[in-house]
Amino acid sequence: MDIILLGPPGAGKGTQSQRLEEHHGMRQLSTGDMLRAAVKGGTPIGIKAKHIMDAGELVSDEIVSALIDAELEAMGDHVGAIFDGYPRTAAQAEALDEILAKHNRKLDHVIELEVNEDALVDRITGRFTCAECGAGYHERYNLPEVEGVCDKCGSTEFKRRPDDNEETVRTRMQEYRGKTAPILPGYEERGIVSRVDGMASIDEVTTAIENILKG
Ligand code: AP5
Ligand code: ZN
Repeated sequence: MDIILLGPPGAGKGTQSQRLEEHHGMRQLSTGDMLRAAVKGGTPIGIKAKHIMDAGELVSDEIVSALIDAELEAMGDHVGAIFDGYPRTAAQAEALDEILAKHNRKLDHVIELEVNEDALVDRITGRFTCAECGAGYHERYNLPEVEGVCDKCGSTEFKRRPDDNEETVRTRMQEYRGKTAPILPGYEERGIVSRVDGMASIDEVTTAIENILKG
């Protein structure tokens, strides 16, 4: 089963993707994570993407679609994909259809996490992740069980994203409203869109998504 998790920055796409990976053996394909890995590795894509990401703008459609294509190429047919942060434009949505057809895969659900924009800045500026395994946390809503120690891998090193400041978050939201939200009607016509209240607790959102996947 292949699904898209759609929602503005801070809606909980990454948080829920990590849970679906753990509970259902699906695979998170986050173009944001792929681009951050490229930036960290100093690859040509990373060098190109860094200043665009730091400004909260969108990296080129060709680059992100090529990243997704390569990941699916390397992935087993039987593993379900969770597209997290992709597609983000009409051109990416079209490219995804072509990529899925090429790999004999089918999109089963587009799940939109509906959130109140006022809460997003608070969520994003309070976010931090494990430097070792990438597990996501929040200063108030999602702390590790033992303070300062990652639940998943025991590491005591954490980091924050350079684009998680209020000004950049506002640009990211504008990009979402202007370029990403308009791809929803196309999926609605296909009858594959479901909506989840992203303002509920993390556990409640997981349950709502799992109910959609059960059909
Ligand atoms: P990307 O990494 O995709 O960032 P984003 O879409 O802005 O999404 P976030 O990761 O900020 O939010 P999220 O929804 O995953 O929230 P999370 O679960 O962490 O993209 C970054 C940049 O890369 C882009 O700006 C662009 O430049 C580039 N890029 C990436 N993909 C691209 C593409 N396809 N095309 C072009 N450019 C691309 O949750 C946030 C916080 O809230 C966490 O601390 C979490 O613990 C907490 N939280 C989550 N759910 C809840 C809840 N229900 N209640 C309380 N707290 C919660
Ligand atoms: Zn960890």
